[in-house]
Amino acid sequence: MTVRSLAFTAVIAAIAACSNLPRSRDLANPEVSGRVLAEQVCSNCHGRTGTATSPNFPNLAAQQKRYLITQLEAFRAHSRRDPAGYEYMWGVSRSLTDAQIDALADYYRAQDPPRQPAESPPALVEAGRVLFEHGDTAKGVPACSSCHGANGAGSDAFPRIAGQHADYVRKQLEVFQRTDERPEGAIMKTVAHALSPDDIDAAAAFVQTLE
Ligand code: HEC
Ligand code: HEC
Repeated sequence: MTVRSLAFTAVIAAIAACSNLPRSRDLANPEVSGRVLAEQVCSNCHGRTGTATSPNFPNLAAQQKRYLITQLEAFRAHSRRDPAGYEYMWGVSRSLTDAQIDALADYYRAQDPPRQPAESPPALVEAGRVLFEHGDTAKGVPACSSCHGANGAGSDAFPRIAGQHADYVRKQLEVFQRTDERPEGAIMKTVAHALSPDDIDAAAAFVQTLE
């Protein structure tokens, strides 16, 4: 091959790479792998490895696979319809195939668990720990750990809540408490029913510190 044809080949390769880039970000293309979607699309909000810098976006790193699949299917089917889910996740999930959802769930499940800085006053975190580990018998609130696990790592349909942003946890507890906007939320609605705003703040503060 001459130097000229080598250069020509390089130019063609570069053009091909560029024209592949928008395609690889194409959410409606079933050929795009879950990993590419995770790294190029989902990363904008959820972080490249599923730990989001902004508390607006839930961490997905090390989340339970089954839970991830259920939620993505629920956004796609428009059955998870809390306002932020509707606003951010309906469009993104609209054309995902089952295979892409499965691969996305594998991708996030395999990431290192999120670690968050301790931000809340120690007394609030301590109140949250008591609620998490023991519940509140007088109010009929079961221990969070009884379903989410002693360290909040979850299992199967019970999501990991360890290391989740306190803001997001607070918001979801209010969604469960006041609405039926999450299709699998019936259990949590019962659990969250009697939580006061202070209980919710405490639980959220504690959960964020769990590793
Ligand atoms: C523009 C920002 C944005 C993008 C891009 C985005 N998400 Fe989300 N995602 C959100 C927000 C905000 C929420 C929280 C929704 C809520 O409160 O119901 C969310 C929630 C989720 C949840 C539920 C988490 C939980 O703990 O219940 C999953 C799973 C998820 N996103 C996966 C993805 C995947 C996979 C992609 C890429 C295909 C993606 N997201 C792209 C903003 C985004
Ligand atoms: C009886 C079992 C059970 C108990 C006890 C329980 N949870 Fe849950 N929790 C669930 C299930 C199941 C889900 C998943 C719901 C869904 O798929 O929408 C969930 C979801 C959540 C979520 C949403 C996670 C996300 O990523 O969006 C938060 C936050 C949460 N629980 C916090 C708590 C706290 C705090 C407590 C203790 C006060 C608690 N849970 C006690 C079963 C339980």
